[in-house]
Amino acid sequence: MTLQSIELPALGKNQQVLPKSPKIVLVVIFTLVFLVVIPYYPLLKYPLLLVNNSPPASAYHDSSKVDDLASIPSSDTCDIFSGEWIPNPKAPYYTNTSCWAIHEHQNCMKYGRPDTEFMKWRWKPSGRCNLPIFNPAQFLELVRGKSLAFVGDSVGRNQMQSLICLLSRVEYPIDVSYTTDEKFKRWKYTSYNFTMASFWTPHLIKSKESDSNGPTHTGLFNLYLDEFDEDWTTQVQEFDYLIISAGHWFFRPMVFYENHRIVGCHYCLLDNVTDLTMYYGFRKAFRTAFRAINSLKNYKGVTFLRTFAPSHFENGLWNQGGNCVRTRPFKSNEAKLEDQNLELYMAQVEEFRKAEKEGKKKGLRYRLLDTTQAMLLRPDGHPSRYGHWPHENVTLYNDCVHWCLPGPIDAWSDFLLEMLKREGLRSHEERLQFLSDRKMQVR
Ligand SMILES: *[C@@H]1O[C@H](CO)[C@@H](O)[C@H](O)[C@H]1NC(C)=O
Ligand SMILES: *[C@@H]1O[C@H](CO)[C@@H](O)[C@H](O)[C@H]1NC(C)=O
Ligand SMILES: *[C@@H]1O[C@H](CO)[C@@H](O)[C@H](O)[C@H]1NC(C)=O
Ligand SMILES: *[C@@H]1O[C@H](CO)[C@@H](O)[C@H](O)[C@H]1NC(C)=O
Repeated sequence: MTLQSIELPALGKNQQVLPKSPKIVLVVIFTLVFLVVIPYYPLLKYPLLLVNNSPPASAYHDSSKVDDLASIPSSDTCDIFSGEWIPNPKAPYYTNTSCWAIHEHQNCMKYGRPDTEFMKWRWKPSGRCNLPIFNPAQFLELVRGKSLAFVGDSVGRNQMQSLICLLSRVEYPIDVSYTTDEKFKRWKYTSYNFTMASFWTPHLIKSKESDSNGPTHTGLFNLYLDEFDEDWTTQVQEFDYLIISAGHWFFRPMVFYENHRIVGCHYCLLDNVTDLTMYYGFRKAFRTAFRAINSLKNYKGVTFLRTFAPSHFENGLWNQGGNCVRTRPFKSNEAKLEDQNLELYMAQVEEFRKAEKEGKKKGLRYRLLDTTQAMLLRPDGHPSRYGHWPHENVTLYNDCVHWCLPGPIDAWSDFLLEMLKREGLRSHEERLQFLSDRKMQVR
């Protein structure tokens, strides 16, 4: 599938349909299109590097610098997810020449993004709390002999590629994928026996595109809200960490099935089918995904929910000149989590809490990688028109959904490392609690 073959038909059709369409259609379409439009680009451009285990020589591969980054862990009581972005002149910690893992459409510097400020911020949690900058050597030491899987859509892949780039100062992984399908990658850090994988499941549950056109000419998806997506649920059992995420695909038209029958839809415009909104399907999808995890017989991993990362189209919808042209982050008092962003966030966190409670009975651990607030404040971090060449006929001309690399999404690894550091202590305490609860029951 080439970029052109996916994009051209959609653009022509959208142009006919949009002028007389209500706002909801536009929203649906834009979200749909950007995900169609950002095709899965393999890392094949650098095939030799895939088997080369040592990072390229560069200013970034300097062990003294890596050591500099080690800092004092923040206190365990801190809420690391509420705070502000503060300047960080030392960033970024990799470039598009030191790291081969940057996806084409997030390689903003290659496509001429003129400003570089957006790479030079770090997240500072409120109060006296601190979030250390990612330390690749420490991370790899912590995950030695372990495995981590990203389960979700292209924003999840965006996070994985950011992590590969941050780790590249210490080691590059080799490709140990079990399929040639780029949507299911497996990477191995041989010196650390650490495996990282990505599983493509934009709806998290069983889904099927029933019509590549649909009411908004952007496809119509059947979502089987109570059925597992076995492409990932049958594969993740042995993983030590899962990072689950979803969101942007739920803006598209969908028909919801439960118990093999249609129960409703989201903007499907079918006779006799109730519009239950995307939130209905989104919530149930998380419920079912978590149920799948809780029902895995031998799974003993830690499940992270990486919360919804808002897009930042301003002055119009995606195809009406909407764009993200800011070059600085918002202060926390300049942006508010509301409307769709708030609804999606609340739905997933509520389902997370229920799953966490259920999982606890089996000794399973759930953690919130609560990136929503931090990302809400980063209208400056998207590719905008620098995800492709200006002359390229791209439907989502301005990408305000994914994140430039290097860029603000690199902070997700700061969060992840901090959480893994706390995990040691926390899981020990919970294990003790679990064992003592079980003793009580046995009595
Ligand atoms: C882009 O593709 C559409 C659909 O095929 C076509 O109508 C349009 O002329 C193209 N634009 C350019 C600048 O090539
Ligand atoms: C990296 O970005 C520079 C601009 O900063 C660009 O000239 C170059 O082509 C890019 N290289 C790669 C491999 O993407
Ligand atoms: C590597 O890690 C896996 C678990 O991810 C473990 O089963 C295996 O024994 C480890 N291999 C070595 C050589 O330590
Ligand atoms: C919708 O309901 C009406 C009245 O019950 C029925 O006549 C019609 O066939 C239904 N349409 C579909 C598509 O099921």
